[in-house]
Amino acid sequence: MSASETDRNIVRRLKAADATAYRAVMLDAYATHPSAFTSTVAERAGLPMLWWEQRLGADADVPSVVYGAFDDAGALVGAAGLAFETRERTRHKATLFGMSVSASARRSGFGRRLVLALLEHARAHGGLRQVQLTVTEGNASAQALYERCGFKVFGVEPMAIALDGAWLAKVHMCCDLEAAVQEGRLIGA
Ligand SMILES: CC(C)(COP(=O)(O)OP(=O)(O)OC[C@H]1O[C@@H](n2cnc3c(N)ncnc32)[C@H](O)[C@@H]1OP(=O)(O)O)[C@@H](O)C(=O)NCCC(=O)NCCS
Repeated sequence: MSASETDRNIVRRLKAADATAYRAVMLDAYATHPSAFTSTVAERAGLPMLWWEQRLGADADVPSVVYGAFDDAGALVGAAGLAFETRERTRHKATLFGMSVSASARRSGFGRRLVLALLEHARAHGGLRQVQLTVTEGNASAQALYERCGFKVFGVEPMAIALDGAWLAKVHMCCDLEAAVQEGRLIGA
């Protein structure tokens, strides 16, 4: 991972130059927390670097952004992204994806800062009203993080993913951006 003087203890949007560090953080997350993600480490490890660059929204045609958290040494230790809908009737919604903070950096507020940065980004993105996500049933730390940031459960999908011969359910959550502003979680437009 590349370290930078200017990236110490901050959360900022990732750009194409961060793709290598982003890939490393995500592959570690898929490998160490397989039940938390739908993608497998093998599926993602085989993708070309261009895919990771596009995931960061480097290509204007790709409707997603990713924010990263940097530790005191300027190393990338966490990331989370937002994928936008493009169709007229669903473009008021976006999906939060790929939430991960490296084990050594947890419980320091990075997860919360990442979620709030994405909600602020969503809020500033014209016409967006709702951010949705899914969290594997039983992932109490992640669900607690999302609830702290204003997400509410609206359903549970049974047998959502198959892992090592078991079915795992996914809890579906959403955050109404207008409500988040009224509750004082976001600055507002
Ligand atoms: C879930 C995860 C992103 C949290 O990141 P983090 O940087 O440690 O979270 P924060 O320090 O910002 O904590 C914010 C809130 O999340 C909740 N939380 C985080 N870790 C928790 C834990 N181990 N137990 C209970 N609550 C927890 C708390 O409500 C916390 O607020 P508090 O500190 O005021 O009590 C991190 O544990 C992780 O990457 N886990 C593995 C991958 C994963 O599960 N990703 C989610 C996929 S949906």
